[in-house]
Amino acid sequence: SCPPPARDSIPCLPRLPVLGSLPWLGGGGLPPHLLFSQLARRYGSLFALHLGPHYTVVINDHQHAREVLLQRGRDFAGRPSMVTTNLLTRGGKDIAFADYSPLWKLHRRLVHNSFTLFGEGTSRLQDIVLSSVDSLCVELLSGGKRGFDPSPAVTRAVTNVVCTLVFSSTYRHGDAELQEVIRYNDGIVQTIARGGLVDIYPWMKVFPNKSLSKLKDCITVRDRLLTCKLEEHKASLSDGEPRDLLDALLKGQTGSGRGQRSSGPEDEGITDDHVLMTAAEAFGAGVETTSTTLLWILAYLLHHPEVQDRVQKELDEHVGSERAVCMSDRGRLPYLDCVINEGMRIRPVSPVLIPHTAMTHSSIGGHSVSCGTRVLVNMWSIHHDPRHWDKPDLFNPDRFLDDRGQRVTPPFFLPFGAGPRVCVGESLARLELFLFLSSLLQRMSFRLPDGAPPPNLQGRLGVVLQPLPYTVVVTPRAGWESEAK
Ligand code: HEM
Repeated sequence: SCPPPARDSIPCLPRLPVLGSLPWLGGGGLPPHLLFSQLARRYGSLFALHLGPHYTVVINDHQHAREVLLQRGRDFAGRPSMVTTNLLTRGGKDIAFADYSPLWKLHRRLVHNSFTLFGEGTSRLQDIVLSSVDSLCVELLSGGKRGFDPSPAVTRAVTNVVCTLVFSSTYRHGDAELQEVIRYNDGIVQTIARGGLVDIYPWMKVFPNKSLSKLKDCITVRDRLLTCKLEEHKASLSDGEPRDLLDALLKGQTGSGRGQRSSGPEDEGITDDHVLMTAAEAFGAGVETTSTTLLWILAYLLHHPEVQDRVQKELDEHVGSERAVCMSDRGRLPYLDCVINEGMRIRPVSPVLIPHTAMTHSSIGGHSVSCGTRVLVNMWSIHHDPRHWDKPDLFNPDRFLDDRGQRVTPPFFLPFGAGPRVCVGESLARLELFLFLSSLLQRMSFRLPDGAPPPNLQGRLGVVLQPLPYTVVVTPRAGWESEAK
């Protein structure tokens, strides 16, 4: 019965015209997730600031996060329009950066179903991942006794999975087309992260901007390749089972009974542009996230050899060395699951998720929030909240086991987000993380090169939070020596 409090009752940083709260953000030294965690100690876990002209609410605790993502998920399922992402997605014809609309919902459902149709939960997807795992193992094992950076091989393996999943191409090491895919993806990832100011002040795009033109070049290469794949798929589409995600989307497009060929206004339904942008997004959202998560976990294993030993013991007991690990082993490998979860807790690759916007007047924590407000959920703060996590900076997979050794998933663990905008690739990502890590640790051990310092765990924020490059020495485990040259 009390009137709702005014919007300004959320503690807010001071602001200046045009600059917004920029002068109070410490000169840009800290990445946003750490800066926000620091500000939360001063202003409370729910505070607001002005990013240029945009009033933005920042959430640093799990209750408010669950309110925004789940309880009032619909209210906050919008996305702000940004210059770089508009370029990347032809004005929001993708899933991740498109604003909430009936067409977006249809599109998201189609993508979700296509994943299922094409192979989630079936052996098809598992076979794709396992064949990529095999090549990765051979590549890593032939790395020799000298220390080397595992990152290019891991990125290549994950890219290969997505290429097979999306358009059925599998590449051998060094293939020119695969190199091209990796190169343009990398270019996009580098520049999108630097888009920065253009996204706060869209009028800056009229000034020459080196990052922005590199982004445009990469997008041109990407679109040429994907358009070619799309045309090939259309020409060879048959009534049978979809061969891959492109097939499944093309079938869904006609299946939905809506218009297809041209890109156009909303009522045209899922257009070719949507299909193309979805394929592109499988790379954008699915490669860097998965490979970086794997690299973080490897980095922590180098710091904690006892954790690596324990995972290998679990694998030896429940799988052995006679056969490859498969998804049905997952139930028997609870500790490995905990290691994966702990990796995603301590270093969430998307530490402030993707910005949300309020699509309607709503409220957070009893404070009213007006339509159009931007909301950032700082998952880093939530995953490091000392009220919920004992010694949050310690890598301790056991925190995901209860007293009886059963797996638990605490409510303040949300590495894929939650609600209407939850990651669409979550089950694919989990399948990949499980098969990659279990197979690697079954077949080889990782250690630091003699005298090398352990990996730096601070990380660097690009589009995702990445570890700094580090080197490993790989040795085959008993039964797998023949794979090492
Ligand atoms: C969104 C995490 C892998 C596709 C997201 C979000 C997070 C996330 C935190 C944002 C949620 C929000 O804004 O509230 C991860 C992690 C991954 C991973 C940690 C791997 C370890 C993948 C993969 C794909 C994918 C493999 C697809 C091939 C997407 C898409 C969205 C998304 C399309 C946008 C969803 C929407 O806005 O409705 N992911 N992701 N992700 N992810 Fe993932």
